[in-house]
Amino acid sequence: MVDSLKKPSFEEIRPGVKAPAKETILTPRFYTTDFDEMARMDISVNEDELKAILEEFRTDYNRHHFVRDEEFEQSWDRIDGETRQLFVEFLERSCTAEFSGFLLYKELSRRLKGKNPVLAECFALMSRDEARHAGFLNKAMSDFDLSLDLGFLTKNHTYTFFKPKFIFYATYLSEKIGYWRYITIYRHLQAHPEDRIYPIFRFFENWCQDENRHGDFFDAIMRAQPQMLNDWKARLWCRFFLLSVFATMYLNDIQRAKFYASIGLNARDYDVYVIEKTNETAGRVFPVMLDVENPEFYQRLDVCVKNNEKLTAIASSNTPKFLQFFQKLPFYVSNGWQLLRLYLMKPIDVAPSHGMVR
Ligand SMILES: [Fe+2]
Ligand SMILES: [Fe+2]
Repeated sequence: MVDSLKKPSFEEIRPGVKAPAKETILTPRFYTTDFDEMARMDISVNEDELKAILEEFRTDYNRHHFVRDEEFEQSWDRIDGETRQLFVEFLERSCTAEFSGFLLYKELSRRLKGKNPVLAECFALMSRDEARHAGFLNKAMSDFDLSLDLGFLTKNHTYTFFKPKFIFYATYLSEKIGYWRYITIYRHLQAHPEDRIYPIFRFFENWCQDENRHGDFFDAIMRAQPQMLNDWKARLWCRFFLLSVFATMYLNDIQRAKFYASIGLNARDYDVYVIEKTNETAGRVFPVMLDVENPEFYQRLDVCVKNNEKLTAIASSNTPKFLQFFQKLPFYVSNGWQLLRLYLMKPIDVAPSHGMVR
């Protein structure tokens, strides 16, 4: 086989340093927020729980977990061709997402220091965890002769501003969905060791517990701010964030089904399971859950998957850009329409059940 086929080439900013993936609506986002509003937040209603979580963070269960062992020390050239490309993309996306958590939590801990000590320390310790996660993934990329320049990413990535309450909805969900993603892969590979073609997946069990604790922290913060959860606006926003997190993951993963296939997973089944579990988990704190069991939910998402395939085909054709816009337009409109209809689907009201079971 030709060497270039075995080892796909990636665009590099310097030798061995991968050019970051182009930012799109589906790539991991970097956030910034109103730090003063965050610092003024009164957490006294739920301070005990937050302090208990802080104690857990201090314990640092994973202090010795992220150590590369001898299994990494071999040539990974046998992961080649398209699988190699998909692997590197997976590592890059995961690393970027972890690193975005690191940056946000680090900045929050810095800005809250002296003003809100419990929160400041929680954020500092969560940024410690995310730095480890991102570093471990970046090290894994080096097994494929590449790495990300995280300093470059810090300076050149776009930052999205969200008010604190939106930061909480979004980060809560991304931590919990991260937990379900990691644990599902871990359990699958535990049952099918023959599919574990690279050692990083072995680390996912303890790793996902970090994400679970981070999620619990945001759960506790939102409970300390009941107005974030109990009015009609909260219902609308929770629906919005649930849908955007689920849709983004689904569209991303179905597009990369071959990556999941390389570790023996069916991307669609995997996503359906992760969405179901995350929706259930979120229903313990959010006032609403999405009706993901309704067949309409995936039917509409699948229309978006098809639209995106068409959009990619148009973008990679030789048609002049100006004309491409008109070719793409109907698919954008269709995506917008599907997402609107998804948003308007009747959610499941779970607020009444809160306080009964947790
Ligand atoms: Fe993480
Ligand atoms: Fe996390």
